[in-house]
Amino acid sequence: MSQAGEELVRGLEALVPAMRGELASCAAQDLEDLRVKYLGRKGLLAGLLAGLGSLAPEDRPLAGKAANAAKQALTDLFAAREAELAAETARGALSRFDPTLPGRTPEAGSLHPVTLVMEEICTVFTGLGFEVVSGPEVESDWYNFEALNLPPEHPARDMQDTLYVADNVVLRTHTSPLQVRTMLARKPPVAVIAPGKVYRRDSDLTHTPMFHQIEGLLVDREVSMADLRGTLTSFLRQIFGVDTRVRFRPSFFPFTEPSAEVDISCRMCGGAGTLHGEPCRVCKQTGWVEILGCGMVDPEVFKAVGYDPEVYTGFAFGLGVERVTMLKYGIGDLRMFFENDTRFLGQFA
Ligand code: PHE
Repeated sequence: MSQAGEELVRGLEALVPAMRGELASCAAQDLEDLRVKYLGRKGLLAGLLAGLGSLAPEDRPLAGKAANAAKQALTDLFAAREAELAAETARGALSRFDPTLPGRTPEAGSLHPVTLVMEEICTVFTGLGFEVVSGPEVESDWYNFEALNLPPEHPARDMQDTLYVADNVVLRTHTSPLQVRTMLARKPPVAVIAPGKVYRRDSDLTHTPMFHQIEGLLVDREVSMADLRGTLTSFLRQIFGVDTRVRFRPSFFPFTEPSAEVDISCRMCGGAGTLHGEPCRVCKQTGWVEILGCGMVDPEVFKAVGYDPEVYTGFAFGLGVERVTMLKYGIGDLRMFFENDTRFLGQFA
C-alpha cells in the first residue's frame, strides 16, 4: 500500500479511540455537538473520506474497508453512549422524586361576587314566592322603550345612553323589557324577578358599559304601594341587615306611576354622615345611599301588553347588582369587578 493509503487508514483507525475518549467525559447536552464533530457532513470522518478518491486505485479497496469499519464503530460508540446518558438522566429524575413532599393542590375557582349577590337576591325573592325569568340582551326598541311608555322622541330616552345594534334593535339598557315579555306571555297574577346584563354607552370610574340589574314585577288585583314598600323593605333588610333603615323618595320613571327611588341608611357610617370625625365618602355625608328605582306599573304599560288597568295593579322595581355588591362588601372601586384579579376574587370563595 502506498504511503498515502496507509496514512488514511491510520487516520480512520485513530478516530475511534479519539471519539471514545471524548464520549466518556461528554455530558448529555454536549452529545449532539460531538456527533456533528465526528459524524457530521463536514465532520472528521467526512474529511478523511474525501481523501479516498485521490488514492491509487489499488489502495482503494483496503482504505474503503477501513472507512466503513470506522464509520460503523463511530456510529455504534455514539449510540451506546447516548443510551447510557439517557438511562442516567432517567435514574436522576427518579432519585430526585420525593414521595414524602406534600402534593400540589390545584387552585379552586370561586363564584364572582356579583354572581354571589345576584344568587342571594334571587333566593330572597324566590322565598317570597317570585319566579326567576330571563330574556334576550339584544332587544327590540319596542320592548326596551316603546311598550314601557317611552315613545320615539320621548325626552326620557335621554336618561339612558343606548347602544344600537341596528335601527330599532338595541342592547337592552335595563331589565325592564322583561316586565313586558312576562306580561305578554302570562295572565295575572305574576310575580317574577329577572336578573341579567344590561348595556349603556357610559364608561368612567363609576360606570361600565355592561353591568347587571335585577328587575322585579308583581301584578294582581289590589296590589298597592304598601305592598311595594313592605316587599322591598323586607328584601333590603335581608340583604343588608335587620337594622337597615329604608326610605322612599318620589322620583320619575315613564313606566311607573307613582315612582320612587329607595335609599338605605349608609352602612359605612351607620347613617351618621361622618366616620371618625371625617365626612363619610360613601354617602357624601347624607347618611343615605340610593339603592333602587321602583313604582306602581303605569296603566300605559298594562295597555301595551293587554292587561286591563281597571282590574289589575302592580309594582315594579329595578336595582343595580354591582352597586348592591359594593355596598354590601364595602368595595370602593367598580373596576375590581372587571379586572379578574384572583387575589380579589378569591376572598369570596
Ligand atoms: N329600569 C329602571 C332603570 O334602569 C329601574 C326601574 C325598574 C324603575 C322598574 C322602576 C321600575 O333605571
